[in-house]
Amino acid sequence: MTLDASTNLATAADTGSAAPASSSAARDKAPSRVSRAAASLRASAILRIAADIRELTAAGRSICNLTVGDFNPREFPAPAELVSGIQEALRAGETNYPPSSGLPELRDAVAAFYGRRLGLELKAENVVIASGARPAIYAAYRTILDPGDVVVYSTPSWNNADYCQIAGATPRPVVCPVGDAFLPTRAALESPVRGARLLVLNSPLNPAGTAFDVDTLRDICQLVVAENATRGANERPLFLLYDQVYWMLTLGDTRHVHPSIVCPDVEPYVITVDAISKAFAATGVRVGWATGPADVMRHMADFLSHVGAWAPRAAQVATAGLLGDDESIDTYHQSMHAAIAARLGAIHSACGDMRAAGLPVGSLPPIATIYGSVQLELDGRLTKDGRPLHGSEDARRYLLQEAGVAIIPFQAFGVPNDGGWFRCSIGAVSLPALQSGLARMRAAIE
Ligand SMILES: Cc1ncc(COP(=O)(O)O)c(C=O)c1O
Repeated sequence: MTLDASTNLATAADTGSAAPASSSAARDKAPSRVSRAAASLRASAILRIAADIRELTAAGRSICNLTVGDFNPREFPAPAELVSGIQEALRAGETNYPPSSGLPELRDAVAAFYGRRLGLELKAENVVIASGARPAIYAAYRTILDPGDVVVYSTPSWNNADYCQIAGATPRPVVCPVGDAFLPTRAALESPVRGARLLVLNSPLNPAGTAFDVDTLRDICQLVVAENATRGANERPLFLLYDQVYWMLTLGDTRHVHPSIVCPDVEPYVITVDAISKAFAATGVRVGWATGPADVMRHMADFLSHVGAWAPRAAQVATAGLLGDDESIDTYHQSMHAAIAARLGAIHSACGDMRAAGLPVGSLPPIATIYGSVQLELDGRLTKDGRPLHGSEDARRYLLQEAGVAIIPFQAFGVPNDGGWFRCSIGAVSLPALQSGLARMRAAIE
């Protein structure tokens, strides 16, 4: 991958902060010019890593970039039906403002799609369209939370600390161990959810690539219902924000589970967030949505209308067409799943081989998303020039310099003591480039 390709992907990908890392020093010097919220937004660790990659690529190195939560369209093109649908809609004059809740045909299409694929019973009033999952998440935070309200979320996870910051909410992160697949359990959440206003869950999970099973999710949903039963009529409830942007990217026998299906009593409290971004390798098309109780959706649409975060009208028309076309979706996902499985499988088997050869490497079996979880226990190991490595940030830099392989420590996802776990994203690499990167990584670890 070239510098420019990786740079473009990295700046637009799953980073939490829009500002480049280099601006953070300047920002620190002049906090009085901007609001406290703006001044305290942290430069994303992923952007800092992207800057490192840029530097090396500028010096002529070819980097196997496993950092970006995005797709290289040459490896993972968006569905042809989506692309031609957008072109046709533009030609047909779909160029004006869409309604602030989204085009009626897309809201209907999302409701019908969820009915067919997830068994949910929704109407258009339960759906609000946005320009991707991010504005939907933002609107959910702003709709549910007042400043100071408590948000419970598991770590490692994607960007919840930043959304808390923006909403002025109080974060209550719950660290989840590898033994629980990096996902929360009812036992871990039992005490944190007391008095909280929002519980955020993400499955399949960015960064670990793991997913809830029915029992774990049902237990958590029952906890939400039980917590709400303790609240008086005048108290605001605990809502559950369920981010399922990777749900169509489950592999093999893995089945996605939804709160309202495993525990119907939780439905009045569930806000689901989703998008075409990951499921259809269409991160730049910017169509997402939230579903949930009609009153909450109305308020979220009000927030979005002021931000102007509507999905482009032509993209909405095309997405409505795509979501109604089960055959095209199934055909598309057949090849996309195979391409993901080949790449994540290559990472898992390379790690297995390294482990079998006595190297301090582990990995989780790939079951969903575009992310592989790899553990590198390199603390205290010596580099070629005799320097001992300390911590996963050090290991990350070593692998980048020595092997030209770029990966992200779970530290970047809110776990300070990450045990040497890293996220490897495969959306932007070809299989041969990945295989040669893995071989270089092995040589660097050996
Ligand atoms: C868990 C999760 N939710 C939401 C998003 C953002 O999706 P979108 O590009 O549709 O805003 C991402 C992007 O990486 C993600 O990983």
